Amino acid sequence: MSLKVILIGFMASGKSTLGKKLANKLGIPFIDSDSKIEELNSRFISEIFENDGEEVFRKMETDFILNYPFPDSFVLSTGGGMPCFNENISKLNEIGTTFYLKRPSKELVNRLLNAKDQRPLVSSKTEDELILYIDQMLEIRSVYYEQANFILDRADQTSDEIIELLKSVNK
Ligand code: S3P
Repeated sequence: MSLKVILIGFMASGKSTLGKKLANKLGIPFIDSDSKIEELNSRFISEIFENDGEEVFRKMETDFILNYPFPDSFVLSTGGGMPCFNENISKLNEIGTTFYLKRPSKELVNRLLNAKDQRPLVSSKTEDELILYIDQMLEIRSVYYEQANFILDRADQTSDEIIELLKSVNK
């Protein structure tokens, strides 16, 4: 049986941590879109944003979805903005089963405060600016995130819960 799991959600919602755990448990490859885009372009995301701008990065994300040779089974952790541009959410829903890791904005602020340096959209923001930014962005992005096949909105999402949900679909 092929398993195609796609995790979406805001920066620092825990997509990569959960994705690695899940892939490990299922014994299938883990793919991180940010890392792959960096690899394919031989540049860090912060450099791409700085030198070429966000629009070019968004194009790279769409190219990645359309052209990456996904294996038969995989867990894909996506960049936080990926589903929200160029109708990518529809493309992701076609490729696999999507899960939105929904987190309260307060939790995202706390997690991002310790992990914003590598993230160009938030690296220079103060705590107050970050609170405002996350609330504004969630309002815009939720429309896309909530088109996922499953919304995991409990704080204690586990890989076992996702495996149970996966058994209920057949993609
Ligand atoms: C972004 C999220 C980042 C990365 C880039 C832009 C966003 O990925 O793709 O910095 O627009 O939310 P993570 O969600 O893995 O931090």
